[in-house]
Amino acid sequence: MTPTDRGTNPQTARKRLHVITWGCQMNVYDSGRMSDVLAPLGYVPTDTPEGADMVILNTCHIRDKAAEKVFSELGRLRRLKDASGGHMILAVAGCVAQAEGKEILTRAPYVDIVLGPQTYHRLPEMVARAARAANGGQGAVIETDFPAEDKFDHLPEQSAPRGVNAFLTIQEGCDKFCSFCVVPYTRGAEQSRSAVTILAEARRLIAQGSREITVLGQNVNAWHGEAPDGSTWGLGRLLRAMAELPGLLRLRYATSHPRDMDEALIEAHRDLPMLMPFLHLPVQSGSDRVLAAMNRKHTSDDYRRLVDRLRTARPDLALSSDFIVGHPGETETDFEATMSLVRDVGFAQAYSFKYSQRPGTPAAGAPGQVPEVEKDRRLQALQALLRDQQARFNAACVGTEMSVLFTGPGRHPGQIVGRSSYLQPIHVLGSASLIGEDLPVRIQAALPNSLSGTLIQERLSA
Ligand code: SAH
Ligand code: SF4
Ligand code: F3S
Repeated sequence: MTPTDRGTNPQTARKRLHVITWGCQMNVYDSGRMSDVLAPLGYVPTDTPEGADMVILNTCHIRDKAAEKVFSELGRLRRLKDASGGHMILAVAGCVAQAEGKEILTRAPYVDIVLGPQTYHRLPEMVARAARAANGGQGAVIETDFPAEDKFDHLPEQSAPRGVNAFLTIQEGCDKFCSFCVVPYTRGAEQSRSAVTILAEARRLIAQGSREITVLGQNVNAWHGEAPDGSTWGLGRLLRAMAELPGLLRLRYATSHPRDMDEALIEAHRDLPMLMPFLHLPVQSGSDRVLAAMNRKHTSDDYRRLVDRLRTARPDLALSSDFIVGHPGETETDFEATMSLVRDVGFAQAYSFKYSQRPGTPAAGAPGQVPEVEKDRRLQALQALLRDQQARFNAACVGTEMSVLFTGPGRHPGQIVGRSSYLQPIHVLGSASLIGEDLPVRIQAALPNSLSGTLIQERLSA
């Protein structure tokens, strides 16, 4: 039977699924898992929405006009749905769906399914209900509650390989309630998966060819899951167990909160060579006044001391961070304190944002909102400093030998691309057969966002 012959059975007929993913790495993971959930219904991923039988828009609510962006994309997708004679199933998932599900259905009634991040294990049932609704005209399906059951207990195994570097969500939700942030509302309370389910998923990823795993959580270092012996492990202990998995070459975790960086995790950086010496550790601000207003519950010196401890444990460690400029109440002096922290710590890479008022968060209604022009000015000054630090970090790599895990073909013929331990993209001339291998490369040039080098051939033939 050829694949097209299978079209006679509606349960298994081959259908095309296109998933659009916005937002954080956890959304990337969720998009993959939504594809897994739909695979048994015959849905096969496709790269374009044109001609797709189902399109899922997986959204992010973290900053600015998130909803406006969703509605403009939905307008585009509506035209494709109309072109399909209304046959295309249109679903909105992720954090905007969670926060503004009802508004989506009011403003975009052609959407068939709205689902929050905690309900996507129920997608098959939602698709069936949406199909019945389309025939009987009963309206759309909305699932944005936080269900009692754990979605991870109801997800099928991965249906498609995730590539050389894979994400694995181990913790979800957030109980920290930073003044500015929507995540505790869109993702719910902190929840940790058990070590047994995490290790089993990691083994499957490795069996399918993944060589690097990044364990994910909104507060990944707050993970405290049930251990195989029934006790409770923290992230440091989990990473030790993962480091023993045969076939795995590299480990990372993201995103961490400075407050949850315990001794066991710092020791894991000291003891596990495969735990990559690159840590994304958001600090948000260098001003203690602003950090207090943000409810971060640490000071800028706490952060400096933490970085010192990490660098003592792992001297080649490089850091990345997130910054917000213009949080309500931030003065020029506060902003200067952020610039000083950046100069003191030195970042290999960083993300920085203008504070954005998010509905329902404490900071949105706080006094002392900073004018937009002032936020712009501060962001530009901060980004110039961060860009300069990144350029210096990359320039210092030229002439050194770096280990590179090759992930895929490069842009030019004969080229392959991979990632250094610091996540820098690295281009070399080399055979595609090296994809999936971690090999030494002599770095020859630093470009703004990547490096290029040559494979160290002696090692290859050794
Ligand atoms: N859990 C992570 C970050 C999650 S959100 C942590 O605690 O660090 C990713 C980043 O988006 C945050 O680190 C923050 O810098 C930024 N961000 C979140 N809410 C924002 C807002 N209202 N305005 C601007 N940036 C924001
Ligand atoms: Fe948001 Fe703060 Fe939780 Fe991070 S720790 S997800 S910034 S509330
Ligand atoms: Fe965005 Fe939700 Fe992630 S708001 S950053 S997609 S947790």
